[in-house]
Amino acid sequence: MRTDSFALRHIGPRESELKEMLNTIGVDSLEQLIYETIPDDIRLKSPLNLPVALSENQYAEHIGKLAAKNKIFKTYIGLGYHQAILPAVIQRNVLENPGWYTAYTPYQAEIAQGRLEALLNFQTMVSDLTGMEIANASLLDESTAAAEAMALLHAVRNRKQKKDNVNKFFISEETLPQTISLLSTRADFLGIDLVIGNHQEFEFSSEFFGVLLQYPGKYGQVHNYTAFVSQCKEAEIKIAVAADILSLVKLQAPGELGVDVVVGTTQRFGIPLGYGGPHAAYFATKEEYKRNLPGRIIGVTKDLDGNHALRMALQTREQHIKRDKATSNICTAQVLLAVMAGMYAVYHGPEGIKYIADTVHYSATNLAAQLARLGFEQLNTSYFDTIRLKADAAAVKAIAEKNEINFYYPDSETVTISINETTTLEDLNAIIAVFSEVANKECDSLTELLKNEAIPTELSRKKEFLTHEVFNSYRSETELMRYIKKLERKDLSLTHSMISLGSCTMKLNAASEMLPLSNPQWGNIHPFVPVEQAEGYQIVLNRLEDQLTEITGFSATSLQPNSGAQGEYAGLMVIRAYQKSIGEGHRNICLIPSSAHGTNPASAVLAGMKVVVTKASENGNIDVDDLREKAIKHKDNLAALMVTYPSTHGVFESAIKEITQIIHNNGGQVYMDGANMNAQVGLTNPGAIGADVCHLNLHKTFAIPHGGGGPGVGPICVAKQLAPFLPGNPVIKTGGESAIGAISSAPWGSALVCLISYGYIKMLGSKGLQKATEHAILNANYVKERLSEHYKTLYSGERGRAAHEMIVDCRPFKANGIEVSDIAKRLIDYGFHAPTVSFPVAGTVMIEPTESESKAELDRFCDALISIRKEISETSAEEDNNVLKNAPHTLQMLTSDEWSFPYSREKAAYPLDYIAENKFWPSVRRVDEAFGDRNLMCTCPPTEEYA
Ligand SMILES: Cc1ncc(COP(=O)(O)O)c(C=O)c1O
Repeated sequence: MRTDSFALRHIGPRESELKEMLNTIGVDSLEQLIYETIPDDIRLKSPLNLPVALSENQYAEHIGKLAAKNKIFKTYIGLGYHQAILPAVIQRNVLENPGWYTAYTPYQAEIAQGRLEALLNFQTMVSDLTGMEIANASLLDESTAAAEAMALLHAVRNRKQKKDNVNKFFISEETLPQTISLLSTRADFLGIDLVIGNHQEFEFSSEFFGVLLQYPGKYGQVHNYTAFVSQCKEAEIKIAVAADILSLVKLQAPGELGVDVVVGTTQRFGIPLGYGGPHAAYFATKEEYKRNLPGRIIGVTKDLDGNHALRMALQTREQHIKRDKATSNICTAQVLLAVMAGMYAVYHGPEGIKYIADTVHYSATNLAAQLARLGFEQLNTSYFDTIRLKADAAAVKAIAEKNEINFYYPDSETVTISINETTTLEDLNAIIAVFSEVANKECDSLTELLKNEAIPTELSRKKEFLTHEVFNSYRSETELMRYIKKLERKDLSLTHSMISLGSCTMKLNAASEMLPLSNPQWGNIHPFVPVEQAEGYQIVLNRLEDQLTEITGFSATSLQPNSGAQGEYAGLMVIRAYQKSIGEGHRNICLIPSSAHGTNPASAVLAGMKVVVTKASENGNIDVDDLREKAIKHKDNLAALMVTYPSTHGVFESAIKEITQIIHNNGGQVYMDGANMNAQVGLTNPGAIGADVCHLNLHKTFAIPHGGGGPGVGPICVAKQLAPFLPGNPVIKTGGESAIGAISSAPWGSALVCLISYGYIKMLGSKGLQKATEHAILNANYVKERLSEHYKTLYSGERGRAAHEMIVDCRPFKANGIEVSDIAKRLIDYGFHAPTVSFPVAGTVMIEPTESESKAELDRFCDALISIRKEISETSAEEDNNVLKNAPHTLQMLTSDEWSFPYSREKAAYPLDYIAENKFWPSVRRVDEAFGDRNLMCTCPPTEEYA
């Protein structure tokens, strides 16, 4: 037997345990289980056509060779991306640390206080620098954040503006090209009329509800927007500003001008360029717009004992509750990157960040002075880090590229140079040498940076920032390492135990898949370099697209969307573009089953569709008669069906082909939500069920870690007729020949983390991928059978099997006064993260073990749930002082002199033997959900509050 196969490391159960697991389930073989799980008519007839698996060692060599094909030039392109220095202490303790990257979105606040604090630091940093009242805990990228800003300003139009249908939005022509492209894609179906122009010529007419300005402008010019902002206010036009976060250290904060929203990226706070991402965008606004703020917000609250605690605030804005009325479709964002950017601010503090911003600025001003001596006119009258030169672009480019330097060339007579944190005197002299050769003139080298300012006093920042203690305490590496560790220890991640979140697929994120992310040959590439310089990336991304195309049974793939929800939006937009191309652009009805994830209706609305909800039948499946009736009723306008497969109920519905046929017969396209693709790979696929497009969550099925709530990658895979419309990018050509506009800022979205999925497929190969799917189904059905005497599982397939997850009914326990949340919190005492709570059915948990969990871990988890079931039977509705209602139990409770509970300390904290060996303590008691929303506070509170 080969022992170096990656499948052996990725898949939990051992061959020797298979028989016992199959016996428990009641089948003779894995093949029989799969036969009983997946309908025959959608099974694949042949194995996936993918190369054979590499061992981990072979993969390391393979990916290293591809990395060497990327040419790392000194790059000064700017346009929203700048090389930065990731402090090694953050690289090692956060980016490369599964304690941070394998955690889930902090829904279970009691075991997530560490990342909640790190995100509160991020929000505080953003609020300080932008001068705004509140900020969220990250968005996907700057351009999508700008689109969310436009949507917010549209939503908060005053009554008269709404009544008069005021729908014009002005975008300064100095806005980044990728942002303009993305906003154009968005505006179309939101009924917003975009006007792009010079802000100095803007007429402040009542036809406009909002504007977007770039600060500094895309070629570096810093404008004084004071008068513009006051005129907007007079005309009741709201203002969004896309601001460079580092420039705000030296420039007056937009918040001080009174703008309404500030957005941008925090990439240059220590995050690798990674050929476009992932990076955390920020979104800051006024408190009065808090209910319209997109994405997750971390807020301060208190726990049951009144202790300081953090949690996600104002969750009622999100899609889970608001569905088609949600403020935005964003669910997964960029938590890991936000944590890193926040830690960068903790590491440097205000004085360090000021030093970096000053050095960048003086590098730019000294460079401009030197180039002026060579006769190159600098066109920006005031600037932070980017100079704009009049020069023969072709001549400069030829010499620069020969010297492995990239500038940006907006037109044939202009060159822009954006300085970054890594730029040294030597680098500046290399730039000067290029221009010296172009001018054919000698020039002295720079030997020191003079403190020349190119920002007028009236525009320079006066206000202090990062004054909170957290940004002023951890300067030595020892201190910062311990602070990061302290936060990490508060959080339960995959390093502790299985995280059985249904629909989230918390599988192994293998070290071999993650290691390349630390390689600068992958990290230090700007997304807008000429593609020839990114040969390694081009090979990986092209192959990954092909592999995903093969796995889904489709024709083409776009890696651009940065999350599942963005994939949904992208897929629907592609459908709309296709329908328009065949003269059916009027189609706008989207059928969505009632059990769908909230992002489905939220995305459909963004794509300008009207949502029609279809019913579920008694057994949880789509009610085919209802669906048919609605498809026929809307046949003249039917655009699409969005269907999750296997369903969100964890079932392979056998009517799926009939369902897709009904939609096609009535003129619609079928969008398959691929969040559950982990039950399909190698056994069936979206093409086989008759879908036309699907998104995949690479952060579920294809091993990208959840990072505490992002990064994510949500590629879309499409059938032939949709391929021409795959999304493009205005700077680097990508997408189909009739590409829709940008969906993300970068041409290939979060290219850096695509390496993880590439490694996953490369090391598992066709056989390993199929085996992984089979074991995901095996593990789910094993848990289902082990729990069957104690809990009722809702919904199974026709032959009685679950797919890769199952819904366990907790509603009957209400008779004992026990809610599903009590079970979720009690699981913490047993060392486990709760499964998904109340989705898709209120009062239930949805368990998805994944293939990566071993039999021993599945048994511990089942033992815990069975023990909890016994505890439930000991409770009564009349008495709520019990071990479930008081869960989770903290160390502070256990060690307190007082113990007033009617059960022992041992029962509270060590209810089963295995726990003592590896106890995980929640750091707070149950958090007060409502208090935090009533007293919204989204920045670091004064230190006394922690006492
Ligand atoms: C069924 C389903 N669809 C869509 C999504 C949205 O994906 P993302 O969080 O990547 O935006 C999820 C995420 O949990 C999901 O479970």
